[in-house]
Amino acid sequence: MNVKGKKALVFGGTSGIGLATSKQLAALGATVVAVSRNPNRAGDVPKGITLKQCDVLDRDALSKLFEAYAPFDILVSAATGGSRARGPFLEIDMEGYKASFAKLWGYANVLQLGTPHMSANGTIVLVSGSPARKSKPGQVALASVGGAVEALVRAVAPEIAPRRLNVVSPGTIDTPMSSLTGAEREEAYRKQTAKNLIPRAGTADEVAQGILFVIQNDFVTGTTVDVDGGWLLS
Ligand SMILES: NC(=O)c1ccc[n+]([C@@H]2O[C@H](COP(=O)([O-])OP(=O)(O)OC[C@H]3O[C@@H](n4cnc5c(N)ncnc54)[C@H](OP(=O)(O)O)[C@@H]3O)[C@@H](O)[C@H]2O)c1
Repeated sequence: MNVKGKKALVFGGTSGIGLATSKQLAALGATVVAVSRNPNRAGDVPKGITLKQCDVLDRDALSKLFEAYAPFDILVSAATGGSRARGPFLEIDMEGYKASFAKLWGYANVLQLGTPHMSANGTIVLVSGSPARKSKPGQVALASVGGAVEALVRAVAPEIAPRRLNVVSPGTIDTPMSSLTGAEREEAYRKQTAKNLIPRAGTADEVAQGILFVIQNDFVTGTTVDVDGGWLLS
């Protein structure tokens, strides 16, 4: 797909990976609606990007948003949905574990309610995470949710063809998702990535390049593209 002149909706498009994706799409000439609960936190955005408020867990609001912008060609969701539980499985708080699935339900809402409003050759991208296929201790919630997201994509892609549906799986990425600052932040990323083949945190732009790849390449569907610095082989 040549994205120039296309209409894109990017959920979670106001921060980190989603914002980088919105900017790359806009730079290539797409018209982008970047959506989140508090979109003004994105600050100033380049020409071609409109900020819009919507919670991916609010199905009524989502339906209205999709109707207002239909038809559109590109649908991306990188919205985290809510909080994520961490910790060893035998100790994990079950309510926190269950709440981590807000990411899956947000993606499912966007996919189910958005797809019918897309053009026939529309393309959709969700974002999982490396723990889906290689989990480290303490990552059972990330692993379960990411695995479910990847299974969702493989299950739904055949049902909605010729529209394309893919998932991009990031490793450790330096985004506002981490609230750490300064030396503490650097040290945390250093520790998390020390055993990776590329021992550093990735950038939001590097993941957005993976998202742009599956948007632009018309022969890719139902698959997962890893942008992880070699996490899976670490
Ligand atoms: N950063 C990493 O290391 C990493 C690694 C693997 C996977 N991932 C995945 O990559 C995706 C993007 O992460 P990121 O690092 O870019 O995070 P981020 O910078 O925190 O951005 C998350 C975005 O999601 C939006 N959002 C969260 N809940 C929402 C909801 N209920 N409704 C609408 N929008 C919502 C946020 O905006 P509001 O708060 O304004 O709603 C924000 O725009 C996530 O799915 C994450 O799990 C990230």
